[in-house]
Amino acid sequence: MIELRELTKRYGDRVAVDGLSVRVQPGVVTGFLGPNGSGKSTTMRMILGLDAPDRGEALIGGVRYRDLNWPLKAVGALLDAGAFHPGRSARAHLTALAASNDIPGSRVEQALRLVGLSDAATRRAGTYSLGMRQRLGVAVALLGDPGVLLLDEPVNGLDPEGIRWIRDLLRGLAAEGRTVFVSSHLIAEMALTADRLVVIGRGRLLAETTVAELAADDDSLEDAFLRLTSQATDHRGVGAS
Ligand SMILES: Nc1ncnc2c1ncn2[C@@H]1O[C@H](COP(=O)(O)OP(=O)(O)OP(=O)(O)O)[C@@H](O)[C@H]1O
Ligand SMILES: [Mg+2]
Repeated sequence: MIELRELTKRYGDRVAVDGLSVRVQPGVVTGFLGPNGSGKSTTMRMILGLDAPDRGEALIGGVRYRDLNWPLKAVGALLDAGAFHPGRSARAHLTALAASNDIPGSRVEQALRLVGLSDAATRRAGTYSLGMRQRLGVAVALLGDPGVLLLDEPVNGLDPEGIRWIRDLLRGLAAEGRTVFVSSHLIAEMALTADRLVVIGRGRLLAETTVAELAADDDSLEDAFLRLTSQATDHRGVGAS
């Protein structure tokens, strides 16, 4: 489980994340939905200890990221595809990560297979297409067999086959009992992937709901999403610009 308690982040006088309290449960895919600039990536960076909150905290299975003994075995994350040494092959990259994180070497071939990169495993990552780099990023996230997965806009840059692949993968991981938290600014994509939705606007929680509940009051999911998020822009918080 991921628990956010009053999580808050400011950049200058801009509030990027504003008192966000949410519990993300295992066993389902939870979509983290909000317009561009609403604070999704900032929230995910704080969960992973890459950004320090100004107030509040983010807990993974009850502890902060920095207090995890072997982080890669507890939480797998895909934030930025392409953050690899371009000269290293996928296999070399994963093998080095496994060695330094107390992960058995046998997981490397499993992770490569899970993301469909076995045949390209010896090629230098610098020669990979965007979709292949995305798959390598997912392999890194899965390497430690973690119970919690965090993915920031994983469908960006993927073709329809890749989008379907990642959708099925995430649903399968949730069905195994893992906590899967995946962000998107596209309600249509989330409607196909997520069971539950956490909707934010301007860093604030707007709704914790399901796709069915969200669609119930409007003609379309897009309308429902726009109605929700326009509320956030109508009630601008102090300091927001
Ligand atoms: N390093 C930073 N310095 C200053 N402002 C930042 C920084 N990172 C994010 N912000 C601001 O915080 C707000 C939230 O940004 P964030 O990237 O978290 O949004 P997002 O929901 O991930 O958007 P997108 O859908 O475009 O990825 C924005 O106003 C952004 O300009
Ligand atoms: Mg983002």
